[in-house]
Amino acid sequence: MTKPCALLKIALGSDHAGFELKEWLKRRLTEEGYECFDFGTDSTQSCDYPDFSFAVANAVVSGRCQTGIVICGTGIGSSIAANKVRGARCALCWNEYTARMARNHNDANILALGARVIGLELAWEIVKVWLETPFSGQERHKRRLNKISAFENLESNLEAS
Ligand code: RB5
Repeated sequence: MTKPCALLKIALGSDHAGFELKEWLKRRLTEEGYECFDFGTDSTQSCDYPDFSFAVANAVVSGRCQTGIVICGTGIGSSIAANKVRGARCALCWNEYTARMARNHNDANILALGARVIGLELAWEIVKVWLETPFSGQERHKRRLNKISAFENLESNLEAS
């Protein structure tokens, strides 16, 4: 996320449980000048969170969007799925502190939210912190992230996928 915040392209995705929060966040983010790309779902009809998490994660790791938000009931399934996409660093955040640390220490590129866990206003506070917090770039954090990337790109892991 190197652009000024208001120029960020944000990928959004949710299952049925996260649909209303996704729509609400999309409206608020758009009002604030962010460009939102909605990867679904488009109703509260029961559906499968991996479909939307994979789409959001692919949009982020490919560079089409600078960051992403995935939402399901707990945020757990969405984050597990997003983290299966190589290059995704999806963090399930439930307050401002976890959002700040996820960006500052982990350079997380996808935010997962649990729509049945947090309310609308808390979700908005988390998203604002997420968008406004840069990666610290500190050596120790880079070293740890490099270890994760190296593991993810091990020849043996690539062959298995
Ligand atoms: C859907 O009922 C629910 O399981 C899903 O939204 C999510 O919480 C899964 O992790």
